[in-house]
Order: sequence, then C-alpha cells, then structure tokens
Amino acid sequence: MIKLNTQHAKSLTTEAEMTNIWPRVEAARDKVTHGTGEGSEFLGWRDLPKTYDRDEFARIKTTAAEIQKNSDVLVVIGIGGSYLGSRAVIELLGNNSSTEVIFSGNNLSSIELDKTLKKLDGRDWSINVISKSGTTLEPAVTFRILRQKLIEQYGEKADGRIYATTDVAKGTLHDLATEQGWTRFVVPDDVGGRYSVLTAVGLLPIAVAGVNIDELMAGAESATAETTAAGTVPAIDMAMQYAAIRNVFLEKGFTVEVLASFEPSFAQMAEWWKQLFGESEGKDGKGILPDSMIFTTDLHSLGQYIQDGRRQIIETFINIAKSPVEITIPANDDNGDGLNYLAGQDLSFANQKAYEATALAHSEDGVPVLSIDIPAITPREIGYFIYFMELAAAISGYTLGVNPFDQPGVEAYKKHMFRLLGRED
Ligand code: PA5
Repeated sequence: MIKLNTQHAKSLTTEAEMTNIWPRVEAARDKVTHGTGEGSEFLGWRDLPKTYDRDEFARIKTTAAEIQKNSDVLVVIGIGGSYLGSRAVIELLGNNSSTEVIFSGNNLSSIELDKTLKKLDGRDWSINVISKSGTTLEPAVTFRILRQKLIEQYGEKADGRIYATTDVAKGTLHDLATEQGWTRFVVPDDVGGRYSVLTAVGLLPIAVAGVNIDELMAGAESATAETTAAGTVPAIDMAMQYAAIRNVFLEKGFTVEVLASFEPSFAQMAEWWKQLFGESEGKDGKGILPDSMIFTTDLHSLGQYIQDGRRQIIETFINIAKSPVEITIPANDDNGDGLNYLAGQDLSFANQKAYEATALAHSEDGVPVLSIDIPAITPREIGYFIYFMELAAAISGYTLGVNPFDQPGVEAYKKHMFRLLGRED
C-alpha cells in the first residue's frame, strides 16, 4: 500500500500552521466527497473505479486484443489529458505485447511527425484518436495526416483500423466517427481530460500495451476505501495530509514542487502529475508550479540548485521500495576501481541509499521533503497512485481556493493561434 511520509518536512512547519490550515482542508474534502464545490459537474472520476461502465470495459479488452492481433504499431493521437496518463502507465509498467504503442498529435512539430511517418513504413498499424472536444488543433491536424497515410496503405479497410475516443454525444470527432462508422469509445461527460486516464482514454492504449487493466482498476478502487486495515491510512486521509502540507509551504513562499524519482521510467508519470496539478491549481494568480526531476541523473545538474539555491522548492520523492529487476554488482580481484565495498550488493540497493542520502542532505539544508513510498511497480499499486493523486489535486485545489476542474488559461494561446492561422469562426 502506498504511504505518504512527511517526517522530513514536519520539522520545517509548526503545529499551529498545520492546525490552522486543517479546517480548510476538511472543507475541501467535503466539496469533493459531497460534490458541493465549483466545477462539481466534473467529479465523475471520483466514483469511476467503482462505477465504471463494465460493458465498455469489456469492449476495450476485446478491441485491444484485436489491435494486438492485426497491428505492429498503435498510434495514439491526443494531447494533454488525452495521452499523458496512458503514456505514463505504459512507460512505467512496460509494454508487454507485440504491438508497440506510440504517441503522436501532442505537438505541431514536422520533425516529430516525420519520424512517426517513417516508423510506420512497411508495418501494420492502427490509430486511436482521442479528443473530448474534437477541435484541438494538434491531434486534429495530425489525425488528418496519419489518416491519409492509413488510407493510402489500406484503402477501404482503413476505417476498420481507426478507433476514436470522443465525447459521448457531440463534437467534430464524435460526428466524424459516427458518420464513418469507426469503433468508438467515450470520455464521460463528467470527467475532465486530466482526470480521464482510468476511462477509455487511458485504458485502451494501456490494454493494447498488455498491461492488466483489471489490476489497474482494482488498485484505484482500493484507494476509494474510506476505512482500511489497521496500520494503513486511507488514500483520502493521505490526500488531505498532502494537500495541507503543500499549501502550508506555499503560504511560506515555497512556490515550486519538484516530484523526484530515482527511476527514469517514472519520467512520464511525472509529466502526467505535472499536468494534473498544473492545470488544476495554476489559476487566478495562484498555485504551486509543478516540476519534476529524475535522480540520480539530475543530482549532477539541478541538484545543486535544490541543495544550495533559493529556498522556494518543496521536494516530493517517489520512493519505489522494490525494484522489479535485480543486478548484482560483481566482485573484482584487483579492486582497481575501489568498488569492492559494493560487491555482492544489488544496484537497486545503491539507488535506495542514494534516495535516503538525498532526502537527508536536502532536508538538512531546509528543503521541505516529502516522500511517497510505492511498494512495487505493479498495475495495482499504480492504479492506487493515480487515484490518490487525482484526489490530492482536487482537495489541494479547493484548499487553495480555486476550481480544480477547469483550465481557462489553456484557451488564450488557442485564440491567437487560430487568428494567426487564418481560421474563420
Ligand atoms: O485536461 C484537459 O482537459 C486538457 O489537457 C485536455 O485533455 C487537452 O486540452 C485535450 O483536449 P481534447 O481531449 O478536447 O482534445
């Protein structure tokens, strides 16, 4: 079970600071659990692990099996919440199927799209195009180009290789998919993009990658429990603790939070987390800027800033207790490199000690350090982690005094871009 460890940060706060913020955190929790806050029409993610559409879930599995059978590659076209979650889960848990899942439509770079187009040459492939609004330029234009290539390769059969994840009833992509008869999945009305990884948005690509989505959902469901076995803390209580402590530090001038992991395969999960917190909290002139680092790599670059630079950073470590891979450091007769003190140890032991050392070094120098302990990298633990973070983003956003479910700031660049591109409204 995942644990939040605040021991290193507590010494940098006072009892009074935590006590003072607590009523706001409780009120925020009530807004989430009772649906009484701003944006409550987007609370669908909250009960999803228990109430998800079983028929659609079964269809996702059947479709994933079909794609695995007929495609070497699945191209997932989507941006923001329409791809970050699935990419994060697949990178972290690995692709266990013979179908490679690649991501496109999350930028407007010709260089990137050219690489994707070349990668598809001579291979069997399909598209999962994902857009709730159906009007987002990046995925829409990428889909137009890739669909053209699909038609060139498969002719009339191309339509059978397009899987569209759209709004339930409206939008350009919904209408196109219905018209063309593409296999269609839905983004529920009450689930916003960044909270949608446990819907078809995330689940279809994840299932194609061979990840056990039953386990993923079971992990998320266990995080919905309000009471847990003795010695464990319910996810909602941990989410409240996390929301409290990060808001206390924000009020003390810590305006950046770095999610730091010692596993490079966690990098995309950190990207998902950045979107979740960045879009949920960064508004009305408020919010913590979410950032991420991969250690020990970044200890040899940005580690200097965290240790010695301006005191504005909260550091939240992801501590994965058990590595799924063990590599033993061999003994060496002449010990020319002086490393025999490590002989016989697993490399993951060194990684674990590096984490403990970094947490100590940074907290000793006044960095508020939090840790989230994940026992193992399994679909169940990751399902739990995802739900815990969604809960935490919602509670923390309400504690901050913002609507955690809208993203009005995303529209500003689009207005200018469409004008500069000459779109007529
Ligand atoms: O969290 C969000 O709502 C956004 O990041 C969206 O997911 C993103 O803008 C893509 O939107 P759409 O699915 O409508 O193309």
